[in-house]
Amino acid sequence: MPKTNKIAIFASGNGSNFEAIARACAENRLNAEVVLLVCDNPKAFVIQRAEKFNIPVFEFQPKNYASKADYEMEIVQLLKKYNIDLICLAGYMRLVSDVLLDEYEGKIINIHPSLLPDFKGLNAIQRAFESGVKVTGVTTHFVDKTLDGGKIIDQIEVPIENCTFEELETRIHTAEHELYIKTLAKFLII
Ligand code: GAR
Repeated sequence: MPKTNKIAIFASGNGSNFEAIARACAENRLNAEVVLLVCDNPKAFVIQRAEKFNIPVFEFQPKNYASKADYEMEIVQLLKKYNIDLICLAGYMRLVSDVLLDEYEGKIINIHPSLLPDFKGLNAIQRAFESGVKVTGVTTHFVDKTLDGGKIIDQIEVPIENCTFEELETRIHTAEHELYIKTLAKFLII
């Protein structure tokens, strides 16, 4: 039977967070169904992950559109067709504009690998590692027009001491997969 809550995930790369959410839905740890992957990079590994879960993919290349508004209008049409309740950004490396926000503001969540507002933007794990701070972490937040801005929902701290950069990356990704599921559970209709 189809589940009540329909999720679209937007991603640009590896897709480990995509897979963590899709798996939690498939294993009924979340009362939701991932019904669409939106991906702006046709070479991204996340597309193979979506195929494994039989989740439809909308692949697009921003350079083939005249503007962000043009591709976001196409995405909004698809989101409506799939009756999407919640949008999860999971390594989607683009800012969203009013076209998407006018329809879905308050229903778009992002995950970021730092304790926001620290280390917004690219390479957040590396910048935290090199900065000398003893603790970093992971944040989920509502999405607005700003880079990694919007109201914070949840955070998990991850200690940096006594680990290599690779170990820290693994700790962060493990924390992300746990936190995203916890955050999503708060917004699903049971
Ligand atoms: C994750 O670490 C996510 O927090 C980050 O991209 C990675 C995607 O990994 N997002 C941002 O930095 C957003 N500013 P994944 O493709 O394996 O899920």
